[in-house]
Amino acid sequence: MTIRVPDLIERKRNGDELSPEEISELILGYARGEIPDYQLAAWCMAVYFRGLNGQETHALTDAMIRSGETIDLGKALGRRVVDKHSTGGVGDKTSLAVGPIVAACGVPFGKMSGRGLGHTGGTLDKLESIPGYRVELTTDEFVAQVKEVGLAIIGQTGDLVPADKMLYALRDVTATVDIVPLIASSIMSKKLAGGADAIVLDVKVGDGAFMKTLDDARILAEQMVDLGRRAEREVVCLLTDMDQPLGRAVGHALEIREAVETITGHGPADFSELVLEACARLLALSDLDVDLEEGRRRAEGAMADGSALHAYERWIRAQGGDSDLAALPRAPVVREVSASRDGVVTRLRALDVGVAALELGGGRRTKDDSIDHAVGVVCQVKRGESVRQGHLLADVHACDEESAARGVEAVLAAYELGDTSPHAHGILLDVIG
Ligand code: URA
Repeated sequence: MTIRVPDLIERKRNGDELSPEEISELILGYARGEIPDYQLAAWCMAVYFRGLNGQETHALTDAMIRSGETIDLGKALGRRVVDKHSTGGVGDKTSLAVGPIVAACGVPFGKMSGRGLGHTGGTLDKLESIPGYRVELTTDEFVAQVKEVGLAIIGQTGDLVPADKMLYALRDVTATVDIVPLIASSIMSKKLAGGADAIVLDVKVGDGAFMKTLDDARILAEQMVDLGRRAEREVVCLLTDMDQPLGRAVGHALEIREAVETITGHGPADFSELVLEACARLLALSDLDVDLEEGRRRAEGAMADGSALHAYERWIRAQGGDSDLAALPRAPVVREVSASRDGVVTRLRALDVGVAALELGGGRRTKDDSIDHAVGVVCQVKRGESVRQGHLLADVHACDEESAARGVEAVLAAYELGDTSPHAHGILLDVIG
């Protein structure tokens, strides 16, 4: 190694620009295990305060991709490949519903997902609540499954973007998640290494998202569109509301159930709307040669005629899992959160609900923590809905009475009740790209 890592940390801390070669050595050295976690954590914190410019973000993304193999999924399938990714939210189970619907419409969907990050849940953790589900396929198994079954969702194998896998786990526990260039390069390195020709990105905005304002979300979206443009891929960013949890369920097994209800047409309104929007965009970007309207019509058709559910079952079984919802773990204690007064829900803070689910055992505090897949929160009443004093607001699913009591208190505090309905808006706030 020719670089001195403390110098790079210091120069970034002082606001200097690092060269592509320096960034490359830093990231590849970390991926090879030659640079320890604490130095990368210090560098990430320096990036938090000083940022990275477009050139540095591009170099970081490129180095992450070069830390492992890449897959040319399009070549292996002989098809145009589409992919999606979210910047992370509370109750965000979108990929679990979008994958089966898109596959049922005849578009292959092979996706690399991540674990929980900060207070947000990760698709992989959710999938691991399904008994037997294998998140770690080899690259060959992954490609073969997308070819044969039309759908696979896996973690980053040791071979694909290993630098992101390591950095992601490190950022999760060192308060270095909500940094625009680190999020942009983390997401785009996975999408580009996975061989997607066109990518739909769900950029979450609000209290429960890493981007709290529309302006910040637009900056992140533009960086990702730019990284896509440099790699000659089409990128569309949907800016979507994360001021309250998405859908009703927050927690791994609880979210699997809600995703399956949604692909059969029985999901919560906001979540169903987002799923349909994402599916319509993916189908319009695919080689089906359909526009957005026809894409949406086909997605609705796959939900209504049972083909999306069939695709879900085939996918889960192909990856070794039990597709029967009855096999999912259930928390031993379920306690109700009741309204303290009559009123309308003016706010339901996503961050507080996400942290409550984490505290119930659904998230990690250190890289090696294990998580409880059964616990979580089901928000039965959402923003704009009315409730009577003493009536049900939410259910807390916990591993014991003590954590249930703490969860009830935390979820109650996440609700704000008032007398006038809040300003109503849809889930989709803007589209960029
Ligand atoms: N999703 C990712 O894959 N990476 C991030 O940094 C944030 C969300």
